[in-house]
Amino acid sequence: MKHIANPWIQSLGTYEPGRPIEEVARDLGFEDIEEIVKVASNENVLGPSPRAVAAMVKAATKMHLYPDGGAFYLRRALAGKLGVPMDEILVGNGSNEIIELLGHVFLQKGANIVMADRAFVVYKLVAAAMQADTIGVPMKDFTHDLDAMLTAITPATRIVFISNPNNPTGTMVDEAALDRFMARVPDHVVVALDEAYIELLPPERQPDTLKYVREGRHVYVLRTFSKTYGLAGLRVGYAVAPKHGIELLHRVRQPFNVNAMAQEAARAALEDDEYVERTRQMVREGLAQLEQAFGEMGLDYVPSVANFILVKVGRGRDAFEALQRRKVIVRPMDGYVLPEYVRVTVGRKKENEHFLRALKAVLAERGAA
Ligand SMILES: Cc1ncc(COP(=O)(O)O)c(C=O)c1O
Repeated sequence: MKHIANPWIQSLGTYEPGRPIEEVARDLGFEDIEEIVKVASNENVLGPSPRAVAAMVKAATKMHLYPDGGAFYLRRALAGKLGVPMDEILVGNGSNEIIELLGHVFLQKGANIVMADRAFVVYKLVAAAMQADTIGVPMKDFTHDLDAMLTAITPATRIVFISNPNNPTGTMVDEAALDRFMARVPDHVVVALDEAYIELLPPERQPDTLKYVREGRHVYVLRTFSKTYGLAGLRVGYAVAPKHGIELLHRVRQPFNVNAMAQEAARAALEDDEYVERTRQMVREGLAQLEQAFGEMGLDYVPSVANFILVKVGRGRDAFEALQRRKVIVRPMDGYVLPEYVRVTVGRKKENEHFLRALKAVLAERGAA
């Protein structure tokens, strides 16, 4: 069927996700999947909030009904929490879906997006699927160079993506830098501020980006329940934007894009402040544990504010494969042109120790070879 497909689809790459535990177990013949540690996709190793689990169990008997396509109760809860009107929020099947919706609305052949060259790769994949070009702007010290991104904007630019904190580097730009950027960004582009990891930061360190929405700027703030709220399997994310921006996204979304169980679980998770605090504490302690160990092992790493960290192991794909044989799944970074690094998700003490033990063994084997 290849010859029937649109020509620009033929050359598209596919996203390489973190490998699922069951897949690795099947491939490597591991019997006990409980022994495998997946620290590859920046999930929350605490599992979902107990409140979210209870909400899912309760919702299970209603699954013969279509969901509320407008996600009324979840949007109302989000509006209350964030202090924005409900019609400035759209809920999506993960924030990935919303990135794709932005592509449908704003991109076409001849248009381009501007992004940091080592930011979340899905932006580029969506642009390519829409026949748009990507202008990748080099980072400075693994951090978005917002001045260079402004300079890179052309008359054909439609979206500037800023992942803050950034995946996979774990770095962030602060509110003052964003303010300077927003003051200078031209009117013919929209800015997508992807804040997938923002709730991991203590509130006083979270830039107030919703003010750009309140000011009616051309901005979409994207967030997700996949990371801090521990619901990656359900696929729920949301966008906050001026009302007319949200209306554009509604035109291209599927009628029932977010399933009913996900809506209920997300609503319950939103109320679980204790779980969010526990997550923040785990990440804080876990990052300190990993950074100290990397230091002791003489490994370079990129200091992170998120729930993952880049560590320079040399020949990252080999290390990824060798770690897998030791029942630890991390993420190789050659797709981000960081072939000497792997990215590891921060876990509790025990997951971090498992990973560190395996990494030491892999590096020792390599040294002996
Ligand atoms: C920066 C960034 N944006 C968006 C996403 C997508 O998240 P979701 O699970 O909400 O689709 C991820 C997931 O890894 C991410 O790292």
